[in-house]
Amino acid sequence: MKFSKCMGRLGEETAFKVLAKAKFLENSGREIIHFEIGETGFDTPEHICEAAKQAIDEGYTHYEPANGILPLREAIAEDVNSRRKVNISADSVVVTPGAKPIMFFGIIACCENDDEVIYQNPGFPIFESVIRFVGAKPVPIPLREENEFRMDIDELKSLVTKRTRMIIINSPHNPTGSVLTEEDLKGISEIAVNNDILVVSDEVYKDILFEGEHKSIMSFDGMTERTILIDGFSKTFSMTGWRLGYGVVPEELAHHITKLMVNSNSCTASFIQRAGIAGLKGPMDEVDYMVSKLKERRDAIVKGLNSIDGISCLKPKGAFYVFPNIKNLVITSDEFENFLLEKVGIAALSGTSFGSYGEGYLRFAYCTSIENIDRAVEKIKDAVKEIKH
Ligand SMILES: Cc1ncc(COP(=O)(O)O)c(C=O)c1O
Repeated sequence: MKFSKCMGRLGEETAFKVLAKAKFLENSGREIIHFEIGETGFDTPEHICEAAKQAIDEGYTHYEPANGILPLREAIAEDVNSRRKVNISADSVVVTPGAKPIMFFGIIACCENDDEVIYQNPGFPIFESVIRFVGAKPVPIPLREENEFRMDIDELKSLVTKRTRMIIINSPHNPTGSVLTEEDLKGISEIAVNNDILVVSDEVYKDILFEGEHKSIMSFDGMTERTILIDGFSKTFSMTGWRLGYGVVPEELAHHITKLMVNSNSCTASFIQRAGIAGLKGPMDEVDYMVSKLKERRDAIVKGLNSIDGISCLKPKGAFYVFPNIKNLVITSDEFENFLLEKVGIAALSGTSFGSYGEGYLRFAYCTSIENIDRAVEKIKDAVKEIKH
């Protein structure tokens, strides 16, 4: 069969491949401790599930407007305005099945041949994939451990050219858990405003923050009109399987993203949007509890990994990932990923799943119990004795 050229440029998300391999091993009787997939490990709060059930019972099982139902868009606008100190209207909000479509639609709508897009490397792999898909030029900005895996603002400045169309940021960050400081965000916003560049700001981990308050680039001078904000319900409310997310964008772009929804999904599921309203307007105690538990798990895994000869690990400020350095072991990240899965029964991801600057690192999503974390650490400690360092 013949396929279009752009399909050859589309990338993948390795987490799903490793999950499939880990499940295959499990089905053949092996015990696997899972650290590969980006889920909180908690259940969706009960009141959100109840709202979905009630919406089905009330007959909310039909098509809805392509950009989302007004009460949900209004609830999102209210939430965004109060948390980010901006003044956007429901017309800037587009609801989609998950946050991911906003990445795809936002880049398709704004970038094409010869446009340059600066993106974090290591970073969420779908960004580079979509930049290549639309034929734009991906320009990686390395995130270095020496800089706590944050962007270096002078380096960012040096990467900007007349063709830079977009800068993509993600804070708290997948895969490193790093968080951009207020000063970083100010520096990025000044570069964007001075050079007329759009900023995609992926804030899906904003509620999973262990220190300080979440800051959004959207709140800085001149930024609301040039920010494509990506957010959603998957991480905050443990709703990955529901598929509910949204973009907050300038109104003329909202119109184009709505057209892309019409051409692809038609709309986001009706009863799920109503469950989203219950999430935004309901109590946050279960989310707070989850974040406190994730913090305990972060502390356990950081301490454990740092106790292993040849491995060192920074303590991330947000999200639910650690990105330990394995450069003292004489093994590549891909080889170590395979070694851990096949020999040790631990599913984690090679740092290179997140771009070439991830070499020398591994990503662990620590969404499992402290007992499992401690067991995994002991197993790795034993196993690395086999590897030269
Ligand atoms: C940085 C980042 N953005 C977006 C997503 C996708 O979120 P959703 O499940 O809402 O599509 C993920 C999922 O892992 C992510 O890590």
